[in-house]
Amino acid sequence: MKRQLVALALLSLASTPLWAANCANTITANDAMQFDKKTIIVPKSCSTFTVTLENVGKLPRSAMGHDWVLTRKADKQTVLSAGAAAGLDSGYLKPGDKRVIAHTKLLGGGQTDSVTFAVDKLKSGPFEYFCSFPGHAALMRGALVVR
Ligand code: CO
Repeated sequence: MKRQLVALALLSLASTPLWAANCANTITANDAMQFDKKTIIVPKSCSTFTVTLENVGKLPRSAMGHDWVLTRKADKQTVLSAGAAAGLDSGYLKPGDKRVIAHTKLLGGGQTDSVTFAVDKLKSGPFEYFCSFPGHAALMRGALVVR
């Protein structure tokens, strides 16, 4: 027990040193088809960045599913169209879509998922994040900015 606690303390020290940039962010999605953030800042000094999506709604995935999908802004519409065609079973993303830089699972109410991606993949922006559930991206979108 004591050894586990020490290991846990060392692990938390190693993963969140006080002087490091915050290389993670949490965003929520709700039954009103909203993300709680319009912008996510990714510090350039991060080698990887983690986004955690919490669906704080109550509705099922099939009715009000939410995911967090990151693409170049220029690729967004194509990814959405291909995702709608792929359907619910594919989480409204075309399997293996190379234009998708990172994405969480499509979540129902009460579910959470995280995705970690390499910051050096973020070239030739601007970048947008959105929900790929059909019709949601009009409201559920934001900018991801590296700086
Ligand atoms: Co959604």
